[in-house]
Amino acid sequence: MNAQRLRGPRYTVQGGAVLQGNVRISGAKNAALAAMCAALLTDEDIVLANVPDISDADSLGELLTSVGADVERQSDGAMRLNGGGVRTFEAPSELITENRASFQVMGPLLARHGFASSVPPGGDVIGQRPIDVHLVGFQAMGATVGRVGERFVAQSNGRLHGARIFMDYPSVSGTQNVLMAATLADGRTTIVNAATEPEVQELAHLLNAMGAKISGIGGQMLEVEGVERLHGATARIMPDRIEAGTFAVAAAMTGGDVVIEDAPVDVMDALWAKLRAAGALIERRGEGCVRVVRTGELRAVNFQALPYPGLATDLHAPMAALLTQALGVSIIHERVFDNRMLYVSELRKMGAEIVSTGSSAIVSGPTPLNGAHVRALDVRAGAAVMLAALVARGTTVIDEVSHLDRGYERLDEKLRGLGVELKRD
Ligand code: UD1
Repeated sequence: MNAQRLRGPRYTVQGGAVLQGNVRISGAKNAALAAMCAALLTDEDIVLANVPDISDADSLGELLTSVGADVERQSDGAMRLNGGGVRTFEAPSELITENRASFQVMGPLLARHGFASSVPPGGDVIGQRPIDVHLVGFQAMGATVGRVGERFVAQSNGRLHGARIFMDYPSVSGTQNVLMAATLADGRTTIVNAATEPEVQELAHLLNAMGAKISGIGGQMLEVEGVERLHGATARIMPDRIEAGTFAVAAAMTGGDVVIEDAPVDVMDALWAKLRAAGALIERRGEGCVRVVRTGELRAVNFQALPYPGLATDLHAPMAALLTQALGVSIIHERVFDNRMLYVSELRKMGAEIVSTGSSAIVSGPTPLNGAHVRALDVRAGAAVMLAALVARGTTVIDEVSHLDRGYERLDEKLRGLGVELKRD
């Protein structure tokens, strides 16, 4: 096997495109993954339309299958899941470590079967990513949580019970995990300092469609009246705000004119505000559609990556790439993860003037970027180098694009549709 095959596929991108045309956004990764885990809460069918065709969904599907669930893509593209045949509550380590969302099988398995075991979750190496709020939540509901080797084991004697739970940090997957467990607990659970991200809201709506009684959705305090059982449901996964945001940044960065269709425009205010401040024109075009245009120069802007409704940490790296082309000095503060700066070294290889100090970065621009050989070090760092490649002089080769495959459906095809010359091999 040659060295390239060992490294996996790569993109070769020709710089200099001005993005033009329409692009359709796929289903949201983080909403889809949580919804897939929710299927473990019932023995009836959960049918999810608009689950994106990304490797994180594939690996979670494999994991669910390995514990005994039935997972299939129907001929209409929807994913049908059935958790009726679950026979083991021990999630296999090699599949758990592939992505972060896989730890969210813990809440449903514990609530429904009284036992769950898993190694710590995987996902991008973007910080310490602890799971204490998940575990504290399970314990508050009456579970015993321990460590056997590297595995976490949670068990309960009979049904979990309702509790008042304070989340030390409004963790997205922590809120989703504890929320799923609480739906089947005996009595009322209150989650204080819950994450309010749209993907958490989506999960709560799906759970209610399955018969759960959750109120306060969208707020920082969720109330859950436990029920004895949940039933099947059908839902459509919301579009991905991070994918939509990445294309919006691409349009603004290349001085393009792009209509983004099927975008969750109403949950992206923070990005729209920053792109406008940087000099882009954002034109809303009715439900789920937005046009992003830039004709003048880009200007420096400062931003902080924050929990929702602040600017999403997943858009930090793409925005940093954009700011390499903006006039002036931009200051970025990362307030969610402690290791979001993996993109910095790669952008510097292309000529960007960025320095990072801990959780902050300072970007000076505009700097002409040059094609280079770079790596997609995590899914969003990968997006940043792809964006940089679009405006670079010459050709950029991006290695390790399996990271991009985790979160972007048919990225190459969509970029080609907007006029970018790139190949994948
Ligand atoms: C999810 C998303 C990810 C996104 C992130 C923040 C999924 C599969 N992934 O990740 O794409 O970037 O939300 O919007 O949905 N924390 C604790 N204790 C915990 C858990 C988390 O202190 O028990 C801290 C983490 O260290 C981090 C912050 O909370 O600083 C955010 O983490 P969290 O919201 O849990 O992100 P994920 O759910 O892992």
